Amino acid sequence: MGQDYSIDQMISAKSIAARIEALAREIEGRFGGTDKLVVVGLLRGSFVFIADLVRELDLPVEVDFLEASSYGDAMESSREVRILKDLRGEIAGRDVLVVEDIVDTGHTLSAVVKLLSSREPARLETIALLDKPSRREVDIRATWTGFEIPDAFVVGYGIDYAQRNRNLPYIGEVRLPD
Ligand code: IMP
Repeated sequence: MGQDYSIDQMISAKSIAARIEALAREIEGRFGGTDKLVVVGLLRGSFVFIADLVRELDLPVEVDFLEASSYGDAMESSREVRILKDLRGEIAGRDVLVVEDIVDTGHTLSAVVKLLSSREPARLETIALLDKPSRREVDIRATWTGFEIPDAFVVGYGIDYAQRNRNLPYIGEVRLPD
């Protein structure tokens, strides 16, 4: 099946890399002295971001992944968040950084923070590459945000539309035909 929409570049690969460098310095500042930071990527959208982020971090890190259900193949958010794949490791007493691709309505991040907090980590912080504050339904903000964007549907840099376009090196806006 062909792709019946176009993609306009919104954030270049170069801007993303520069922003990640700056964010890594802030994270190092906050978690300096940590034994080993557990960096938790939310699958699947954060896989490119977490890969670039951990390589910028000058800290001992462990990487783990969690998968929560989100949109299926549609552009509409589902309200119910289910855990499809849980962490492999224990986080009680550990420093944890949750890595999300986009905070949209906020349901996913809020559910994940609630779940992981219940396991009593020493510290739990969150980072999102993108934030769409105008779409928020739950009052939550990541500790760090890469870029605030308007209410647009975006793809690339790990983020998909119906499982496509995750491999674009930049963030682009999906334009549907009229
Ligand atoms: P929330 O629970 O509504 O905050 O949704 C978060 C999840 O929805 C993100 O982790 C993405 O997987 C997905 N999502 C939100 N906005 C977009 C988008 O513009 N493009 C692709 N996926 C999105």
